[in-house]
Amino acid sequence: MAVVIIVGTQWGDEGKGKIVDFLAEHADTIVRFQGGNNAGHTVVVGNESLIFHLLPSGILRQNKKCIIGNGVVIDPGVLLEEIEMMRSKGHLQNKDCLFISESAHLVMPYHKRVDIARENLMGGKKIGTTGRGIGPTYEDKAGRVGIRVIDLFDKDVFKEKLTSILEEKNFYLVNYFNEEAFEFEEIYEEYIDFGKKIREYAADTSRIIDREMKNGKNILFEGAQGYLLDIDHGTYPFVTSSNTVAAEACIGAGIGPTKIDKVVGISKAYTTRVGQGPFPAELNNELGDSLREKGNEYGATTGRPRRCGWFDAIVVKNAVRISGIDSLVITKLDVLNSFEKINICTGYRYNGEVYSEIPSSLKRLGACRPIYEEMDGWLSEIGGIRERNKLPDNAKRYIDRIEALVETEVIMISVGSKRDDTIVMKDPFM
Ligand code: GDP
Ligand code: IMO
Ligand code: MG
Repeated sequence: MAVVIIVGTQWGDEGKGKIVDFLAEHADTIVRFQGGNNAGHTVVVGNESLIFHLLPSGILRQNKKCIIGNGVVIDPGVLLEEIEMMRSKGHLQNKDCLFISESAHLVMPYHKRVDIARENLMGGKKIGTTGRGIGPTYEDKAGRVGIRVIDLFDKDVFKEKLTSILEEKNFYLVNYFNEEAFEFEEIYEEYIDFGKKIREYAADTSRIIDREMKNGKNILFEGAQGYLLDIDHGTYPFVTSSNTVAAEACIGAGIGPTKIDKVVGISKAYTTRVGQGPFPAELNNELGDSLREKGNEYGATTGRPRRCGWFDAIVVKNAVRISGIDSLVITKLDVLNSFEKINICTGYRYNGEVYSEIPSSLKRLGACRPIYEEMDGWLSEIGGIRERNKLPDNAKRYIDRIEALVETEVIMISVGSKRDDTIVMKDPFM
């Protein structure tokens, strides 16, 4: 038995979905523990490409339990659409495949309206959120006025909570944002209906995970977003509203830290970021455009072009420290196939000083310039390779150099978007 956490080590979109789907073969239970449908996790099997926003990426594997933990914020309409899509494809036929925490908070229509209105009002200072209401939902959770999955199952409780919060939200929307107010009835009826459809999956998911662990099962935790989008440790305020580092798996799923066996970090072979905020190794030039085109770097949730840059070893090394990462998976190595020279950012220069850490001051980080180490590219196709030692020498050197710089062993290398385009040195469940 092993309990393994997967987390992103950059700014999200590292290929977590692909790796979770791959590793789910040997897992019994796959758990999402934070974030919401701001996440977009792509899984490609055969000729089919699916993007999951709320369902764990292990959902395509047969006879697994997929769990959405208490730390996730759930937009029930989006979740039900995903469930319907999976059912229509012949998955999720057995009720035991999916469990949703009764304690998870719900994204409400006013959260989405506030998210978008606030971004519009901030103009040039906006965060560049996904507009899915994630921040406002976590705000209400912390403000103790959130509505949870379980509240939908008791009409009186839901009515009381919605009535009181809607009064505050409507005042805020109309008087501060100059937006339209919501009618109680439209939300009430829709959400009671969502509740009826979700009820069969609702459970105390912490207990289910505990039982699975006691039965010696393999558990895989699927993080969303990435280290630098963490609300505490990321490039605040250009972050998401949840903790994205590994420790959150315990809180967002309801298990103790002594139960975790391994933490695996997922890193792209280069770096991308969607939304605003500092990004020292960003390439605002043809090289960046080329990474975007070759890597098809367009957001899985919003379709926005992703900002692209070289691999930043400072970022990943910090992710290793903060999440206690024991091993790394490098994805999208194939995207670098045609680059003659490849750079790795090994430090930052600021005001004549050299930094080997991420400065806490956002202003300073924004003014940091990358220090690069240049390596020769391999200029050949690697998509069909399944063993590390069969990679071209320069690709091997690149991976070796990443391992040395971030002081962490690379256990898998992804060389294409499909499930099988994967080089495995060590499977964390084996
Ligand atoms: P996630 O949010 O971390 O799950 O990542 P996304 O799904 O948002 O973005 C990763 C994108 O890269 C998806 O389109 C994947 O299909 C694709 N992808 C994953 N691994 C590889 C790889 O090794 N090579 C290539 N070319 N594409 C990959
Ligand atoms: P996955 O799980 C990349 C970014 C948004 C924005 C910031 C805040 O697919 O890696 P939010 O809507 O969360 O309030 O937006 O966070 N962001 C992501 N970027 N991948 C994600 O998820 C992201 N989820 C949020 O672009 O900059
Ligand atoms: Mg994504």
